[in-house]
Amino acid sequence: MSQELRAVEWTGTGLALIDQTALPHRTVSVEVHDVDTLVDAIRRLVVRGAPAIGAAGAYGVAIALLQGAREGWTPAGTREAVARVREARPTAVNLMVCVDRVMTRFDEGLDAVLAEAAAVQREDVEANRAMGASGADWLLKRVGADRPLRILTHCNTGALATAGWGTALGVVRELHARGRLEVVYADETRPLLQGSRLTAWELLQEGIEHFVQADGAAAGTILRGEVDAAVVGADRIAANGDTANKVGTVGIALACAYAGIPFLVAAPTTTVDLATPDGSAIHIELRGEDEILEWAGTRTAPAASRGHNPAFDVTPGSLVTGLVTERGVLEVSAGELPADHLR
Ligand code: MRU
Repeated sequence: MSQELRAVEWTGTGLALIDQTALPHRTVSVEVHDVDTLVDAIRRLVVRGAPAIGAAGAYGVAIALLQGAREGWTPAGTREAVARVREARPTAVNLMVCVDRVMTRFDEGLDAVLAEAAAVQREDVEANRAMGASGADWLLKRVGADRPLRILTHCNTGALATAGWGTALGVVRELHARGRLEVVYADETRPLLQGSRLTAWELLQEGIEHFVQADGAAAGTILRGEVDAAVVGADRIAANGDTANKVGTVGIALACAYAGIPFLVAAPTTTVDLATPDGSAIHIELRGEDEILEWAGTRTAPAASRGHNPAFDVTPGSLVTGLVTERGVLEVSAGELPADHLR
């Protein structure tokens, strides 16, 4: 295994973020020392993936404190700056949960805030490792094949999208480490290509056999029997199991249900939002039209066409065969998630 990637790293004076907009061609780091730069980095997907933006938001509280001290902000001004970080993107609940957790130490000052942010980061890696093991156990049992598995995934859920290791890609990495993975079908993930740019790059680093396929190929690949299970991440999971994830996910879940193969969601409990009753209450980020209407800065659609660019969709809980968190696997195809298990 190659050295573990750190998408989000505290340098002692600020944040170093791997610039995910430059991958796979350039591996460059962006230094963040102020709140505006952090908010911009989250919005432009320099740092992205629900747990990774949670970790960046956690350290964002420290950045606001340091900037406030440099620029003479009042505590209320610093809190207002933290609120801007918290709201930089609306769908992934990890951002709000992690900022709110660190804010419980705000009045104790910088050291306490940094200790809490480091705990957020450490616990996410631990959660990912636990999910990888339970998710792999569950899949091997559920698929019941004694040959290595063929897994389809969507978007990027690896080390880049988390504090380290990965959620859905963590399950994939665990299967690979056990010698129980044949191949990964990585959807390219239009329009920003997190699958082809980031997942394929991470799989290559790990020496994992994979195909990149157009998002539109996923259902056909599943219905032809070329996939044993789909494993995806999540940005917010409502109390009834409805799951918001990268746009295109719900089509995969429908195809899995039709084909009778498992659709596994891998997400830490920081992604579960028991205060949101169902998927209809999840705020789905609508991104700029140009991401759809242009390709690499060149207009591809007719000049007069409008673009519709929801960044996420909601998969009904009834289509989720299993949800793996750091606490284990829940088979939750119907009804409320068991809150006691998830708190
Ligand atoms: O817009 P993005 O790239 O932040 O979307 C990311 C996803 O949808 C991931 O699947 C999700 O955050 C889980 S990451 C472990």
